[in-house]
Amino acid sequence: MVMSTMLAPPPLIFLLMIHEVYSADDGWGVHYSSSSICALKGSTVIINCTYKYPTGHQINNTFWTKINSADPPDLSEDSEYSQRIQYLGDKHHNCTMSLTDVRQTDSHKYYFRFITDKNKWLGVPGVTLDITLITDLQVQSSGERVTEGHSVTLTCKSSCSLTDGSTFIWYKNNQSLSERTDRNNQLILQSVRRNDSGNYSCAVQGHNLTSPHQYLNVISPDKPEISVNSSGEIMEGDSVTLTCKSKSNPPAQNYTWFKVNETSSVGSGQTYSITNINSRHSGWFYCEVQNKDRSQKSVAVLVNVKGKMMIFHLIIGLLILGAVVFIVVLIIWRIRWMKKRNSFQTVHHSPSHDSHKTCDLYENLRTADDSSPVYGNIKTDSYDESNLSSPVYENI
Ligand SMILES: *[C@@H]1O[C@H](CO)[C@@H](O)[C@H](O)[C@H]1NC(C)=O
Ligand SMILES: *[C@@H]1O[C@H](CO)[C@@H](O)[C@H](O)[C@H]1NC(C)=O
Ligand SMILES: *[C@@H]1O[C@H](CO)[C@@H](O)[C@H](O)[C@H]1NC(C)=O
Ligand SMILES: *[C@@H]1O[C@H](CO)[C@@H](O)[C@H](O)[C@H]1NC(C)=O
Ligand SMILES: *[C@@H]1O[C@H](CO)[C@@H](O)[C@H](O)[C@H]1NC(C)=O
Ligand SMILES: *[C@@H]1O[C@H](CO)[C@@H](O)[C@H](O)[C@H]1NC(C)=O
Ligand SMILES: *[C@@H]1O[C@H](CO)[C@@H](O)[C@H](O)[C@H]1NC(C)=O
Ligand SMILES: *[C@@H]1O[C@H](CO)[C@@H](O)[C@H](O)[C@H]1NC(C)=O
Ligand SMILES: *[C@@H]1O[C@H](CO)[C@@H](O)[C@H](O)[C@H]1NC(C)=O
Ligand SMILES: *[C@@H]1O[C@H](CO)[C@@H](O)[C@H](O)[C@H]1NC(C)=O
Repeated sequence: MVMSTMLAPPPLIFLLMIHEVYSADDGWGVHYSSSSICALKGSTVIINCTYKYPTGHQINNTFWTKINSADPPDLSEDSEYSQRIQYLGDKHHNCTMSLTDVRQTDSHKYYFRFITDKNKWLGVPGVTLDITLITDLQVQSSGERVTEGHSVTLTCKSSCSLTDGSTFIWYKNNQSLSERTDRNNQLILQSVRRNDSGNYSCAVQGHNLTSPHQYLNVISPDKPEISVNSSGEIMEGDSVTLTCKSKSNPPAQNYTWFKVNETSSVGSGQTYSITNINSRHSGWFYCEVQNKDRSQKSVAVLVNVKGKMMIFHLIIGLLILGAVVFIVVLIIWRIRWMKKRNSFQTVHHSPSHDSHKTCDLYENLRTADDSSPVYGNIKTDSYDESNLSSPVYENI
């Protein structure tokens, strides 16, 4: 009875021990942090790594290798790595490794190897170091042309994104903007002014790689303006000069003149002159200012040639004048007529004068009446001397 109770516990302990040591995959393993690394040429790459093994084991040896074999060689004994590889881990669970002066040929599969007092372990499938060397940096702007008052973000672009918390340095016209490290690899310029224009470049602190210059062009929002050298109305026959004024930055290089709804330009140069203008020149004109990198159109101005309107006004004026003259004449005639009537009424009491007048009129009428027979007489004369129109003779 006592024996049996004494015998029972050992299998239980044994089972528990077996479970602890051999259960599934746990107990043994290597975990690598990242496999794809973006690095600047010559920089240091760190591969975070942890490993585990069953309790009761003592770590005898740890190293990194790039060969998956039964008895892999230690990388630190490889002449290509010996000066650059450094084991940052320990003999417990940290197997972090660093590789300095990284180069393209370092892109490879690496394994962590650890040997305990009882066993050996190779951390397959390993970690593939995919090194993208940054050989060039590039400044990218959030806008090609930035209008004054807007903000612009400059980004220091590289072939891959650096994850090691590198510090970026910014330069404007080769002058360090050390105080301006806004966000990771970005430079944010708020409410830019024209004097923010310039050549920007970036670099990574601690590395001698600098990006080429990127020109940031801060332009003025001002549109070109047109001035017309005429005060007031433009009359037919005038000479008119339109001048295009641009405050653009960089300064304007080319001026081109256009008339609205005409396909081709009408002129070039800062001024556009029309001599001996006529109504056909009327229309909306605008200038287009060409800079090194862009063009700006002015607001169109109306050139309104007063020609037909003048004639129209003249005609109206003449008509009014004519009407006035007519009315005046009418009034004068009426006054005269009134006067005459008045004088007639006064003279009515002396009929002698009046009868004389009527007699005169009668005589005149008679003379007029008699003219035709005279004509008849001449006619007869020219044709024949015969007595064809004797009655005419009678009248004379
Ligand atoms: C490595 O691990 C440390 C600590 O966990 C962490 O701060 C660091 O960012 C890691 N590095 C990489 C490259 O993952
Ligand atoms: C491993 O060691 C490195 C170097 O000492 C350290 O930076 C890292 O944080 C450690 N990793 C862990 C998981 O403790
Ligand atoms: C552990 O390492 C020592 C010396 O480093 C060596 O003598 C011993 O044989 C190793 N033990 C095993 C189990 O590999
Ligand atoms: C700025 O640096 C570039 C390259 O380093 C150089 O070619 C250029 O002459 C420099 N410009 C000025 C104004 O210093
Ligand atoms: C740009 O000009 C503004 C005034 O117009 C001035 O306040 C600012 O300091 C100038 N910035 C630089 C970098 O010269
Ligand atoms: C910017 O660089 C260009 C050529 O890359 C140069 O012509 C220009 O003068 C530079 N501008 C400034 C402000 O340095
Ligand atoms: C910058 O790096 C290149 C290539 O690694 C090297 O040839 C050059 O000497 C370095 N220049 C400086 C000033 O460190
Ligand atoms: C406008 O300029 C032209 C040429 O300069 C000139 O002939 C014309 O008289 C000017 N007109 C006025 C109204 O000043
Ligand atoms: C200026 O105009 C001329 C002719 O119209 C053209 O050949 C030239 O390319 C223009 N220049 C610019 C900077 O637009
Ligand atoms: C230009 O043409 C369009 C369509 O033909 C017309 O609607 C517009 O009024 C014209 N503008 C001028 C200024 O003549």
